Amino acid sequence: MKTQVAIVGGGPAGLMLSHLLHLRGVESVVLEARSREELESEIRAGVLEQNTADLLTETGVGERMKKEGSVHHGVELRFGGRGHRIDFDDLVGRAITVYGQHEVVKDLIKARLDAGGEILFEAEGVEVRDIDSENPSVTFRKDGENHELSCDFIAGCDGFHGVCRKSIPDGAITNYERAYPFGWFGILVEGPPSTRELIYNLHERGFALVSTRSPEIQRLYFQCDPNDDTENWPDERIWAEMHTRLDIADEWTLEEGRIIQKSIVRMRSFVCEPMQFGRLFLAGDAAHIVPPTGAKGMNLAISDIRCLTEALAEFYESGKKDLLESYSEVRLKRVWAVSRFSWWMTSMLHRFEGDDAFRHRMQIAELGYVVESRAASTTLAENYTGLKEGESG
Ligand code: PHB
Repeated sequence: MKTQVAIVGGGPAGLMLSHLLHLRGVESVVLEARSREELESEIRAGVLEQNTADLLTETGVGERMKKEGSVHHGVELRFGGRGHRIDFDDLVGRAITVYGQHEVVKDLIKARLDAGGEILFEAEGVEVRDIDSENPSVTFRKDGENHELSCDFIAGCDGFHGVCRKSIPDGAITNYERAYPFGWFGILVEGPPSTRELIYNLHERGFALVSTRSPEIQRLYFQCDPNDDTENWPDERIWAEMHTRLDIADEWTLEEGRIIQKSIVRMRSFVCEPMQFGRLFLAGDAAHIVPPTGAKGMNLAISDIRCLTEALAEFYESGKKDLLESYSEVRLKRVWAVSRFSWWMTSMLHRFEGDDAFRHRMQIAELGYVVESRAASTTLAENYTGLKEGESG
């Protein structure tokens, strides 16, 4: 088997790369360890910044998002017993779209298959070979048979635990990491939404977030011990904790409903430098992880892909390698900018081990400044809706 770009990983990054390359006349094959059903049902975050939503629309895969997604023009920061709205429209003239990541995955898979694209699901034991040569390849097993895919370039879009980053020799990359001493307990709830816009809440007992998935499903999170177990949290205990953290004096009420899923996610920041070795280019979670507080994970991955597409298309159109050679440097500037924003939101809104009343008051003072100063609100709004492509990389 032969192709121009072998893409390891069929999440949003790998699928979007395959889609954009196709539009630029570049051939690719996507290798994915999971089945199509597993991929399409994996529940992840659901906030598309303006750049991401625009890219889906501009490249012909935004139709269902337009119909089923919901555009939000602000978020609420809630602390000290009061809610404060950050008005994106007024501050930066941009918005976000709430539309589940797995819905984006469904739309991209359909677009690729409709266009005759090749996605090999359930490809096992993927290994990347000769990445420092001009003729790299990927080997894998599918349906009990061994295969080899020769290519010009490999895109490592296989997530934090994938093989691509791990195939780069020790010493050729440096990892930067911060594990946060808490996790997010996430629930999916059947029932009408409690809010039209997302609520990011700081309470002395820790963070809570009210989000949505659809008019029928709410997505709620609260900060928890990363080593806790969902078994320790019967529904009544979850609702009691959510009410304690979120209830405020005025009429707002948290709508309860049937909890249909519970999970705990750990939180970390991670960046590897550089994001390239030989003919292997890393994108998305394979190269960096941000904590979910800024809702940036998929958006940052898609922004990598936009840049990698330009670099590969330039190579195939003109033989020039300038953009491929600057890919890592350009991306890392953006990756660190987004890592900083995600770390800042996380630090401002969570309770850390050993925090005392002084630190809590500092957080309240910082949040007070963010909601009262137009300059500070604008900082949050422009980062949350997405720095313009080209700014910070
Ligand atoms: C979500 O809806 O899952 C979600 C929303 C905002 C975040 C993280 C997750 O910051």
